[in-house]
Amino acid sequence: MARIFNFQAGPAALPLPVLEKAKEEMTDYAAAGMSIMEMSHRGKTFDAVIKAAEANLRRLLSIPDDYAVLFLQGGASLQFAMVPLNLLGAGKTADYVNTGSWAEKAIKEGKLVGNVNIAWDGKGDKFMKIPAESELRLTPGAAYVHITSNETIGGIQYGAYPKTEAPLAADMSSDILCRPFDVKRFGIIYAGAQKNLGPSGVTLVIIRKDLAERAPEKLSTMLKYKTHIPEPSLYNTPNTWGVYILKLVTEWVDSLGGLDKLRQINEKKAALLYDALDGSPYWKPCARKDSRSIMNVTWRLGSEALEEKFVKEATKAGLDGLKGHRSVGGLRASIYNAVPAEGVQALVQFMKEFERKNG
Ligand SMILES: Cc1ncc(COP(=O)(O)O)c(C=O)c1O
Repeated sequence: MARIFNFQAGPAALPLPVLEKAKEEMTDYAAAGMSIMEMSHRGKTFDAVIKAAEANLRRLLSIPDDYAVLFLQGGASLQFAMVPLNLLGAGKTADYVNTGSWAEKAIKEGKLVGNVNIAWDGKGDKFMKIPAESELRLTPGAAYVHITSNETIGGIQYGAYPKTEAPLAADMSSDILCRPFDVKRFGIIYAGAQKNLGPSGVTLVIIRKDLAERAPEKLSTMLKYKTHIPEPSLYNTPNTWGVYILKLVTEWVDSLGGLDKLRQINEKKAALLYDALDGSPYWKPCARKDSRSIMNVTWRLGSEALEEKFVKEATKAGLDGLKGHRSVGGLRASIYNAVPAEGVQALVQFMKEFERKNG
């Protein structure tokens, strides 16, 4: 069966060469006579896989030695809780930038732990923009400043990250590896894998090691970052399959030429779609131009009935997953790293036809 173009927000498209390699190695990994899922996470074979996954990420993102790279579980949603549980000490305040639904979820968990200051709130403006650094009202001596680098639902993304005195904590679930960035600007970065990294069930955490020492002693062992640092990610059984696929994905990124190259590819794909949306008043793009995401593109049509028709006919044409998030409606194309340029070209072509027939 032919593969369709998959614009789902996550779990999302994976690179075809990765799926093919996984298929090839499925029943007998590295001549072990078993699949990667069936072997010990403490054996030599898996050890080489997890070390390679970490090394690939360190190379792609130039992660310095004083940062730990962890493969945890519980999704980005558990990180919403682990960040404040580990880093928001008693009597301290954490600053949060509220750019959308995912930031709101992080804020909710922060408030369960301690003092939270909303440094900027985009809710009144329907979360259509990323604030300028000068708009943030930051707390002197804050424990950290939390941002969501890309709001998957609204389709907005930081261009430049704010410079902050307090460590920057970032949810990069939906745009990590879409372009290069300076890890040293951050105290902690986390990302659920199911967009640009691999399958769901593995969560990447990159944390400055000294920050992990802030965890209160009474915090449960599994919830402390510092538990997972000494034998990286092997305190308990990790998602071995997820780590293996992540390793293959990072190799695929390398094979394309790394993150500079991916940035070019992603910017080109996004420009193609935004140009189509800007090209006719028939389409109503949601995000403010200066805040547009190159990963999740959101737009509306004249009526909900028309949007429903668009999604239905697109699915029939082999363009899947274009329905906006259930909380906001509308249309959304998630054009992550693994969505090929041909997919975006096919979508733009379909849009032209749709407008001709229904406009
Ligand atoms: C930006 C962002 N943060 C957090 C999450 C939640 O991730 P998880 O389902 O891995 O908990 C998502 C999921 O789509 C997301 O897009």
